[in-house]
Amino acid sequence: MDCMLKVLILAILSGNCYGKLLTGSFWHITDLHWDPTYRLVDGNSGSVCNSSGNRPTTHAGTFGDYVCDSPWDLISSSVHAMKNILPEPDFILWTGDDTPHVPNENLGEEAVLRIIGNLTNIIKTLFPKTKVYSALGNHDYHPKSQLPPTENNMYEQIQKLWEDWLDPASRNTFKKGGYYTEKLLNQTGLRVLVLNTNLYYDQNKITENMKDPADQFKWADQVLSEASKNNEKVYIVGHVPPGFFEKKRHKPWFRSEFNNQYIKLIQKHHDIIIGQFFGHHHTDSFRMFYSTSGSPISAMFLTPGVTPWKTTLPGVVDGANNPAIRVFEYNNKTLLVEDIVTYYLNLTYANIAHARWEKEYRLTEAFRVPDASPVSMHRVLDQIAHQNCYLQKYYGFNSVNYDLSECNADCRIDHVCAMREVGFEAYEHCVQKEEASSTVPAILTIVFALSVSLWGS
Ligand SMILES: *[C@@H]1O[C@H](CO)[C@@H](O)[C@H](O)[C@H]1NC(C)=O
Ligand SMILES: *[C@@H]1O[C@H](CO)[C@@H](O)[C@H](O)[C@H]1NC(C)=O
Ligand SMILES: *[C@@H]1O[C@H](CO)[C@@H](O)[C@H](O)[C@H]1NC(C)=O
Ligand SMILES: *[C@@H]1O[C@H](CO)[C@@H](O)[C@H](O)[C@H]1NC(C)=O
Ligand SMILES: *[C@@H]1O[C@H](CO)[C@@H](O)[C@H](O)[C@H]1NC(C)=O
Ligand SMILES: [Zn+2]
Ligand SMILES: [Zn+2]
Repeated sequence: MDCMLKVLILAILSGNCYGKLLTGSFWHITDLHWDPTYRLVDGNSGSVCNSSGNRPTTHAGTFGDYVCDSPWDLISSSVHAMKNILPEPDFILWTGDDTPHVPNENLGEEAVLRIIGNLTNIIKTLFPKTKVYSALGNHDYHPKSQLPPTENNMYEQIQKLWEDWLDPASRNTFKKGGYYTEKLLNQTGLRVLVLNTNLYYDQNKITENMKDPADQFKWADQVLSEASKNNEKVYIVGHVPPGFFEKKRHKPWFRSEFNNQYIKLIQKHHDIIIGQFFGHHHTDSFRMFYSTSGSPISAMFLTPGVTPWKTTLPGVVDGANNPAIRVFEYNNKTLLVEDIVTYYLNLTYANIAHARWEKEYRLTEAFRVPDASPVSMHRVLDQIAHQNCYLQKYYGFNSVNYDLSECNADCRIDHVCAMREVGFEAYEHCVQKEEASSTVPAILTIVFALSVSLWGS
């Protein structure tokens, strides 16, 4: 049956009639990347921003440009949009990267701390009573990505900026390694782990030859074992995710050994880890974790960024995005993620008219699944992998409606294998397998064409 028709019929059959008695909601925002140098020149026709790295600004306006990090107007607009759309979330996840993509020489410790302070202030001002679980990004340190596994002035100062959000016990582990754990909203049976996965980033030279920087793996394993004994359900929050970038083949972020250790941690404790929430990609995607026997055991949600900044990563073509913010709906007893609603700003439209934040999509509607459980996310991935209409829909969402071009066979492999396999070897295996099977139809076509032409002659 035609894919679109199938989608339509399923939509009619599966009307949203399940009860949502325990549904709470929270915000997840990430990668705000404020560029304080952004300013308009030539009567709005161009812009200056140090984060463009001299690339031409073609869509410049009040709310930014696709080659620049966020101007203050975009930061302010996004936090006000949160306040308008869902003014009383249960809590906010904020997964870091606050400073612009500029050389270290143009920042410095003081500038980084000031920028983190400014963003902390605007969130506090608009959500004065809301609990915020805040994670460090690789750009929230000077020099960038060099987050140390030991006490230092920056962790100390950032801990002070976030003091109101942190439980007293969290302040100690934060100062030591940039990570912490708390009961979620101080409730029995619910827990959040905020990790400093920047320690595993392959750009971090300080942790290069370490087995367990800041003893974070050992700590996480202990916390999760204890949580299991106490029948707790857990969310894991962080910035740099394990696995591969879906927009560039063979591009992981973690060092290989850290990637393995992370996967083992999830496999060991998956029955109490109900969700994982990360950023860093600036794109909208997710990652699956499977048991050794292949059943889906966990999903990691990658929330798109506020900054529209086009990546300079070699090999990625036109990797910008529209600014996005995201609401998670969840069961406040089991922590099951029931739905995900992504809101976005069409930056082009905002610059020529006004800042109009609109709903981009709701997961259960767009992909016809009952919720965002690991089993459901596995189904979403299956649909993306095997039905072209879902692949194209996902691909539009991936850049928050910035790149609406077609995702071809190579693109499909990049995205599907990145979502399916977080492990280094499993990913390479997936790429080989998908490449082999995607060339089969091409070969068959050639054989068919040849035989037809031979027949004809
Ligand atoms: C859980 O969600 C329900 C429905 O929104 C709400 O009435 C209840 O107070 C929430 N419980 C907690 C502990 O927040
Ligand atoms: C912006 O970049 C220019 C040129 O590289 C540099 O001279 C200037 O100091 C930078 N400004 C800031 C605030 O980083
Ligand atoms: C950022 O914070 C500094 C103080 O650290 C303050 O002087 C400045 O006005 C703030 N900027 C914005 C845009 O809020
Ligand atoms: C958390 O709950 C305990 C009792 O369960 C209470 O003593 C404590 O004050 C609460 N902490 C906060 C920050 O609300
Ligand atoms: C964004 O706005 C521009 C200008 O109005 C429009 O041309 C474009 O189609 C919009 N993009 C989306 C995805 O709606
Ligand atoms: Zn970022
Ligand atoms: Zn990052």
